[in-house]
Amino acid sequence: MTSGGDAPGMNAAVRAAYRMARHLGLEIVAIRDGYQGLLNGQVEPLDTHKVDGIERLGGTILGTSRSVEFRTPQGVERSLRQLDRHNIEGLVVVGGEGSLKGAYSLHQRGYGVVGVPASIDNDVGGTDVAIGVDTAVNTALDAIDKLKDTAAAFHRAFVVEVMGRQSGWIALQAAIGGGAEMVLIPEVPFEIEDVVRRMKEVQASGKTHFLLVVAEGCKPSAAEISDAISKRDDVEFESRLTVLGHIQRGGSPFTFDRYLAARLSLKAVEELAGGRSGSVVGLRATKIAATPIESAVNEPSPFNSETHRFAEILAG
Ligand code: F6P
Repeated sequence: MTSGGDAPGMNAAVRAAYRMARHLGLEIVAIRDGYQGLLNGQVEPLDTHKVDGIERLGGTILGTSRSVEFRTPQGVERSLRQLDRHNIEGLVVVGGEGSLKGAYSLHQRGYGVVGVPASIDNDVGGTDVAIGVDTAVNTALDAIDKLKDTAAAFHRAFVVEVMGRQSGWIALQAAIGGGAEMVLIPEVPFEIEDVVRRMKEVQASGKTHFLLVVAEGCKPSAAEISDAISKRDDVEFESRLTVLGHIQRGGSPFTFDRYLAARLSLKAVEELAGGRSGSVVGLRATKIAATPIESAVNEPSPFNSETHRFAEILAG
């Protein structure tokens, strides 16, 4: 099952789960549309034809959802009844933080489940990096590189909003990779005056453009910042706002995501088949390791304050 916000590489994870199940002689079925599909009993067989070639596709061929109903105790009960009715003995959940919390609810009821972290936000416990992050960051970076060209040509400030409601991961990586003059993330509070001060410094240094990367969850928001800058007469740069939005979730997964998805999903099925359920499989340094699902869902997201410090130093 894939669940929550789709992430590039989810299909590669589905394919790998299918292949490992077949290798182990297990029967594997797919649940469509995440937890909502599970509640509705949307179960279908998987076969070679359905998974052939899907590793290069973005989105998820299984569909996904953010199910409010599943989060209730009645929702969990109904899901367990559906799993029993379809003789599903174990579940691999590919998804982000909310999806793995859902998996934890099933585990708490004694059901065999293994989580595979996939979320472009990279705010999932149990792994250093989740499936989809690398592709999403590269999509953001590609846009930022292009915006930088036009920003320099016009002596403008570009305020670019990237995804991440609670997580500044994409913003930090894209800002570092794209040579931004400033980056703002939800984890580190700031005020408009901080932006103005930084713009003045950049102006004084003789630079002809100002690229500001802002994570979606920041308050004030990218739109409010851009608006405030436009109204100031003590900054020279004209401001333009670009919201990258859901474009960052789509697209064909990069090699890193396909490879990570394959490794994590193969391991997840192996764990489940070996009777070692109740875990999240993740990348720890260079190795694939299983973490108890309880620790993974309670683990703080992989926000690294040192990465933020480096981004500020690099901004110069
Ligand atoms: O999947 C994570 C994410 O893309 C966040 O970065 C973003 O805040 C959110 O999902 C958007 O969710 P939705 O597609 O439900 O609007």
